Amino acid sequence: MRIDIISVVPDLLASPFSHSILKRAADKGIAEVHVHNLRDYSTSKQKQTDDYAYGGGAGMVMMIEPIANCIHHLKSQRTYDEIIYTTPDGKPFNQKTANHLSLKGNLMILCGHYKGIDERIRELFITMEISIGDYVLSGGELAAAVISDAIIRLIPGVLSDETSALTDSFQDDLLSPPVYTRPFEYQGLEVPSVLLSGHEKEIEKWREAQAIERTKLRRPDIYEKFEK
Ligand code: ADE
Repeated sequence: MRIDIISVVPDLLASPFSHSILKRAADKGIAEVHVHNLRDYSTSKQKQTDDYAYGGGAGMVMMIEPIANCIHHLKSQRTYDEIIYTTPDGKPFNQKTANHLSLKGNLMILCGHYKGIDERIRELFITMEISIGDYVLSGGELAAAVISDAIIRLIPGVLSDETSALTDSFQDDLLSPPVYTRPFEYQGLEVPSVLLSGHEKEIEKWREAQAIERTKLRRPDIYEKFEK
């Protein structure tokens, strides 16, 4: 998989992709992420990428020209399965969308900034608009990093234990059960004895019951769907 991210603050995206699982995915040649500086696609002397909003009001709007130039340039090199725009008014991101996108070959993500992008970019180029939650970030970069992380870790071969992505929270519409490691006892709290029993079936049963209980308690909205 290849993800191209377009941003006015590309440095913000350097770190998330140079550590741990995402770095390993790149080193193994499974998923590569390329960050493009939108300013490089501005033809103005000052490398301008935003301008005042028609109709007035506070906040600048990202201009059409640099974005269109960058998208045209990238599209001339390969075909994209989706051109995603990160925005608080997009479709809420979830595990189902992450699963869907993890099967794609080439993705482009445009990070929003300021008051957003000129609406015509959305109409002409964007195929998918994603919000990572009902709050407003200072830019779409962190959202792009979150989306990329959630997608890349699902690609077979990225996680060392192939099954571990399958047992994540949400993967079967339930939250994950609690987990424990050594020591056996801490401040009077002991690890549930079933986990030391060596009984695989019993452990599986316990984990499932815990996952159901946890989901019921913490996320009744998800539990409702699971029950159906
Ligand atoms: N940009 C600003 N806030 C955002 C959000 N919640 N999701 C995606 N992109 C954003």
